[in-house]
Amino acid sequence: MGRITEALKKVSDERIARIQKKPEIQYVVKKMENTGINEHIVSFHDPALPIGEQYKILRTNIQSLKSSNNYKTFLITSSINGEGKTVTSVNLAITMAHDLNNKSILLIDADMRKGKVARYLGFHSHPGLSDILSKDVALDSALVSPGIDNLSILLSGPVPKNPSELLNSRKMQSLMASFKEKFDYILIDSPPVMPLTDACILGPMTDAVILVVQAGRTQRGLVHHTESRLKQAGAKIIGAVMTNVEYHLPQYLYRYVHEYSEYK
Ligand SMILES: Nc1ncnc2c1ncn2[C@@H]1O[C@H](COP(=O)(O)OP(=O)(O)OP(=O)(O)O)[C@@H](O)[C@H]1O
Ligand SMILES: [Mg+2]
Repeated sequence: MGRITEALKKVSDERIARIQKKPEIQYVVKKMENTGINEHIVSFHDPALPIGEQYKILRTNIQSLKSSNNYKTFLITSSINGEGKTVTSVNLAITMAHDLNNKSILLIDADMRKGKVARYLGFHSHPGLSDILSKDVALDSALVSPGIDNLSILLSGPVPKNPSELLNSRKMQSLMASFKEKFDYILIDSPPVMPLTDACILGPMTDAVILVVQAGRTQRGLVHHTESRLKQAGAKIIGAVMTNVEYHLPQYLYRYVHEYSEYK
């Protein structure tokens, strides 16, 4: 193998390794006793942490879109697997439910292939989206409560044979219409855009898409490709959430966030 070929192979191997790598994340969270909610759900266990504040900033942005454009349905997706879609969706849903304005929030796990909302919230098997779409399971019997005021969850349900077709069905459209009447905000967690069509089916059913981008892993070109796929499908991307970002607030700002949070 020539030197150039060798160098190219090395670069390509490094790129593949970077994409496949799933960093081990350390969260500093006070985990509450007697709850099945995973410790990565910072907004439940320790919302006063600076990371909890970031979810509140996201909540404020979403609320302002509701007042200016009456947006109420949001799809959370990303380019590839494991970028933090589900952790972001669950944290955001809880943060929105913590708001004192009594707005009703629904989080739908529309990842019917690998849905993990149940795992993050400590639910065991329960009917979910796939049951409603493929069987005649009643809507109300499928909604579950994680014990947080104003928050309802629709789990993904058992893995069906035809997830994309179920999402693309008329039943899904009418389900969304009835959710819109019942809830103030609907957040939908979904599979990644690049390997599957599901998010591009769901995107145009929602008012806006929030793109999760994992820093240090997902390449810029891939994110652009994801954006154009979603746009082509008719979805409206309103912004991105960067995950796996390690950034340090200046000491004075960190102290301010912390002191301020003690008044909560
Ligand atoms: N904000 C974040 N910063 C750092 N790591 C995160 C963040 N959010 C999630 N993670 C970690 O990334 C991993 C994957 O998270 P998550 O299950 O939310 O990803 P996903 O995009 O939903 O994956 P999938 O494509 O399999 O559905 C988890 O180990 C999680 O702890
Ligand atoms: Mg997920």
